[in-house]
Amino acid sequence: MRCDLILRDATIFDGTGAARKRGDVAITGERIVGVGDLGAWSADREVIATGKAVAPGFIDAHTHDDRAVLCGPACMLCKMSQGVTTVVVGNCGISLSPVTMKTRPIPPLDLLGDESWWVFDSFAAYAEKLATDPAPVNTVALIGHMSLRVEAMGGDVLRAASDGEAAHMQQRLRDCLKEGASGFSTGLYYPPNHEAPTDEVIAVAEALRETGGLYVTHMRDEGDGVIESIEETLKIGRAVDAPVVISHHKCTLPQNHGRSTETLALIDKAAKSQRVDFDIYPYVAGSTVLMPHKLNPQVPVKITWSVPHPELQGRWLHEVAAEWGLDQVEAANRMLPAGAIYFQMDEADVRRIMSHPLAMIGSDGLPHDAFPHPRLWGAFPRVLGHYARDLGLFSLETAVHKMTGRVADVFGLRDRGVIREGAFADLVLFDPATVRDAADFDDPTRPAEGILETWVAGQSAYVYGEGATSARAGRLVSRNR
Ligand code: ZN
Ligand code: CU
Repeated sequence: MRCDLILRDATIFDGTGAARKRGDVAITGERIVGVGDLGAWSADREVIATGKAVAPGFIDAHTHDDRAVLCGPACMLCKMSQGVTTVVVGNCGISLSPVTMKTRPIPPLDLLGDESWWVFDSFAAYAEKLATDPAPVNTVALIGHMSLRVEAMGGDVLRAASDGEAAHMQQRLRDCLKEGASGFSTGLYYPPNHEAPTDEVIAVAEALRETGGLYVTHMRDEGDGVIESIEETLKIGRAVDAPVVISHHKCTLPQNHGRSTETLALIDKAAKSQRVDFDIYPYVAGSTVLMPHKLNPQVPVKITWSVPHPELQGRWLHEVAAEWGLDQVEAANRMLPAGAIYFQMDEADVRRIMSHPLAMIGSDGLPHDAFPHPRLWGAFPRVLGHYARDLGLFSLETAVHKMTGRVADVFGLRDRGVIREGAFADLVLFDPATVRDAADFDDPTRPAEGILETWVAGQSAYVYGEGATSARAGRLVSRNR
C-alpha cells in the first residue's frame, strides 16, 4: 500500500477521549487513509514519530479571526504554531459580515479593524473571499448580533430594535445561514447590545430554527448577574430550539469568585433537557476593548493598544494614570479607542470550569492587538502542558478531546476533530514531554514550545523552527454539511 504521508510509531490521541495508542497514521490527499500498524505501507514522506504525540488538529472554539483568516499564512501563525487547524470566527456579537462601514466602527466591532476591513455586505461575499483567497486553516463562521444591529439600525444602536428592525435582522441572519454560516452570536455585555432586550434576541435567533444553527453568547453579565445571564441564555435557546454555547465561561470580579460551583450546577441541570455547552480560555485575565465605565479598583488593567497613545501598549493603567496625575477613569478616557487586559477571574474557578465535561477550549485571542493577551499564542499548549501534564488537572486524552472531538461534535463539523480512516487529515504532531506555552503577559507573542508540525487537509501548514508554510488548504466548514 502506498500513501502520500505516513506518521510512524506515534502515540495517537484520537480526539474522542479514548486512551492513547501506539501506531501509524497514513494520509493521502486531504484524508486519513489508514490508522494502526501500517508496517507494510510506504509513503512519499515518512515521519518517524517515536515518543511524539499525534492528535487531530485543534479546533479553536472561540476566536475573533474573521479578518486574520483573510490575510495569508503569516496572520494565522499564532494559531498554527499551537496546532490549531480550524477556527470559529464571529464570536461575541462581532462578525465581519453582513455589514459594511464608511467610518470607524463603534467598539467592540473595531476589534476587527477600522472601516477599511468592513467590505462584506453579505455572508456570501465573505465566503467567496475565503474560497478565492483561501486561509491556511479552516473557518467556521457565526454571524454577530452587533454587526446585524449596525446593518439594520445604522448609528442609532443605543436602544432596543423595533419589531421591523428585528424582523430585518432575522431575515439577514437566515440568508447568512443558508450561505454557509453555522450560527448566531451575541455580545449582550457590550454597551450598545446591552440595550437589546431578551425578546429582540429571540426574534432574531428565530432564524436558527430551520437550519439548526447554534446560539453562542458572550452573556449580558458574567459578574454579579451571572446566574440570571445563564438563565436568559437557556431561555433564548429553548425559545428557538437552538443548541446553546456559553462563550468564555467565567465568574468575574472578586465578589463572585468561587461561584462557578453555582453556575456549573445550573448548567448541569439544564443540560438534562436542552443542549448547552461552553468554552473557556486557560487564564485568570480577560481582554477586550478598554471600557472606562466598567473599570473596577480591584481589577488590575493592562493596555493592549491605544489609537491616540500607541506608546502605552503593555503598560499598566494605574501606573500611567499616576504619571499623568489622573484617576484611572480619566486616564482611560484619554486613551480611547483602546484595548485592555482585565485581571478579574479566580484560578480555582478557571480550573473547575475547564475540568467540567462540557468545557471546550477556545482562545478568544485578539489577533490585531498590538500587545495581545497571551492566549492568542498560548491557549492550547497551556492546557496541554501547564494544566494537563504539569498540574494533572485532567489527562492528556481529555485535554485533546476538549480541543478536538468535543468541539467538532458541538459545532457539527463532519469528519473533523478525530483520527480515523476517512476523516480529514487535519493533524498536529507534538512532544507531550515538552509542549508548553511560551507567551505570557510580559512577552505575549512567543510561539509555543513542543508543537512540531501542523497539517491542514494533508498539507503541512506549520513546522517548528521554520514557521508557516505557503499552504492554504483551509476552507469554510459549515455546520452539519
Ligand atoms: Zn467575548
Ligand atoms: Cu470573544
